[in-house]
Amino acid sequence: MATTALTNIGTLVTNDPTLGEGALGVRHDAAVVFEDGVVAWVGDSADTPAADTGRDLDGRAVLPGFVESHSHLVFAGERAEEFAARMSGEKYAAGGIRTTIEATRAASDDQLAANVRRLLGESLRSGSTTVECKTGYGQSASDELRSAQIAGRFTDEVTLLAAHVPPPEYAGRADDYVAMVCDEMIAACAPHAKWIDVFCERGAFNREQARAVLTAGVEAGLIPRVHGNQLGEGPGVQLAVEMNAASVDHVTYVTPADVDALAGGSTVATLLPGADFSTRNKYPDARALLDAGVTVALGADCNPGTCYTTSLPFCIAIAVRELHMTPAEAVWAATAGGARALQREDVGSLRIGARADAIGLDAPSYLHLAYRPGVPLIREVFKDGTLIA
Ligand code: NIG
Ligand code: FE
Repeated sequence: MATTALTNIGTLVTNDPTLGEGALGVRHDAAVVFEDGVVAWVGDSADTPAADTGRDLDGRAVLPGFVESHSHLVFAGERAEEFAARMSGEKYAAGGIRTTIEATRAASDDQLAANVRRLLGESLRSGSTTVECKTGYGQSASDELRSAQIAGRFTDEVTLLAAHVPPPEYAGRADDYVAMVCDEMIAACAPHAKWIDVFCERGAFNREQARAVLTAGVEAGLIPRVHGNQLGEGPGVQLAVEMNAASVDHVTYVTPADVDALAGGSTVATLLPGADFSTRNKYPDARALLDAGVTVALGADCNPGTCYTTSLPFCIAIAVRELHMTPAEAVWAATAGGARALQREDVGSLRIGARADAIGLDAPSYLHLAYRPGVPLIREVFKDGTLIA
């Protein structure tokens, strides 16, 4: 039994309202003890039980590790020129995805794995201790299979983004592509994934096509999630609720009926404001969602097209400044919210029995994540109770 005590924590976020104030379960002058990779004790620093090793936080803040529920890390190449053109006024069109499909298909397994490892390293140093990873730049049965297998070397949260955009050989034949996904790709890839995802948007896949892909995924034992309502109003949100999807992600353009549907269902709305930032899109109406009682998660959406950042602290800062989320709502959404989106109860909080995944900040409180944008505030990262970064 290895125990580690973190003492003298200025502000501790537990996300357990029985352990402290508010939804974040905040305690001051606190301590937490990890035992064999899980949280064993939370209390006042003065009462800390004896432990094998100790770390004095000297008044700094400790939070649960971020739970990144949306990332696209299996790809090759980059699209900096496309970004620069966008900043000069060009509009984002999902067509850029095909550039990355070509580069990804041409890359070796080792090149793809090295890119995932590099980005996961960045992500971890930014405080994300659980990271979901999507395929989606293969778009053939064999390239999606190897993408899923490569992602699976690094995380249990593998998402088969089976229908991202129809690849070049299916140009203008989205129905034929969907048939191939349902008849061939999903059977090959399902043993290597947990989730099935589809980009339900004009220019990608329509409601019926997206429903067919998700239904085939569910039949193969996968749990649905949806990319929807990123570039315009559309059927993504309603389809996600209808399919009881774990989450619908982006949710930038929604109608009052979409908000009502989310409020009446169990699908998490995952906001990806980094993508809206990097595409100069409008920002989602987080207040309408939160005020209607919708569960909101925040993800970084790292991908080479719409958002090449792995930093959830950056997204928290945008969520507070631009989406009018409170700092507490944004921090909850990037921790407990991400865990809800991944249907995980063992991460996203520091309740007793949760995994000992935590971060120490170079700041006295979680408020500084939004208050000091762009500053590397993540000083310690604990994964399963071990200091790893
Ligand atoms: O989450 N929306 C679709 N997929 C990605 C973008 C992919 C790309 O442009 O390469 C997203 O924004
Ligand atoms: Fe995405």
